[in-house]
Amino acid sequence: MKKFLVLGNPIKHSQSPVIHRQFAQQLGLEISYDKAEVPLDDFANFVRTFFAEGGEGLNVTLPFKEQAFALADVVSPSAKAARAANTLKMKNGELHAYNTDGRGMLQDITHRLGWSVRGKRILIVGAGGAVRGILQPLLSASPEEVVIVNRTFEKAQKLAAEFGVYAQPINAIEGSFDMIINATSAGLDGSDIELAATIVTAQTQCYDMLYQVAETPFMAWAKSLGASEMSSGLGMLVEQAALSFNIWHSQSPDTRPVFDTIRQQLN
Ligand code: ATR
Repeated sequence: MKKFLVLGNPIKHSQSPVIHRQFAQQLGLEISYDKAEVPLDDFANFVRTFFAEGGEGLNVTLPFKEQAFALADVVSPSAKAARAANTLKMKNGELHAYNTDGRGMLQDITHRLGWSVRGKRILIVGAGGAVRGILQPLLSASPEEVVIVNRTFEKAQKLAAEFGVYAQPINAIEGSFDMIINATSAGLDGSDIELAATIVTAQTQCYDMLYQVAETPFMAWAKSLGASEMSSGLGMLVEQAALSFNIWHSQSPDTRPVFDTIRQQLN
């Protein structure tokens, strides 16, 4: 039986085993997929041992995504842009690294939610690893403009320059946006960061990358300003898993029933 693991520290709350087992069942594949908490100083050794013993594939979550990227012999364009990887596979004796987070988010936004990115003005709040992971996939969907704001402005400027988008100071954001993506690790509710109320209109679609079933503070904040469409990042979790699944099995599972099950289980 093909063996898979998700590695992290901590890893207790990972939903990846549940998601991947459901995908496999859906497609009639026999796999084992478990989670492993890896000691902070043992990541590289753990990965090498896993593949040496015949393991088939790994998902990698915090805090190891950058290490996974650095360890790889071959990196996909998505991992290269993110400088981080969430999916590893051994092919012809070489470790291949991929990053499905950004494409997973885009898939969730455009397919499950039916929101269009093309021609839209998009604000991203945050400038950490999560933003680095979503910029390239987002830009490939042809938005009109992407603006990054962040508590630490210099980080937003640096990232914006690297990806050819705009950075604005958080207290001087200009105009309103078609879409706002919260990519900060804080449970942003507009009070942590002073986001101007004028950036949200009734048409603004608000996406919080936090994997949460319940309304997030950012979603509640957007709603209080009159936004009508908002979502947490739970769907992104399922979509990035489906893209990893495809890398290993060359098959695309139906994500909708798995999304519904996960949402019910976490409720
Ligand atoms: P990740 O990989 O999840 O992006 P990260 O690289 O640590 O994690 O980045 C966290 C992001 O959340 C950063 O944009 C951070 O802002 P700074 O660059 O100023 O640190 C943002 N963030 C974290 N806590 C925050 C808070 N209380 N208020 C505002 N922004 C916050």
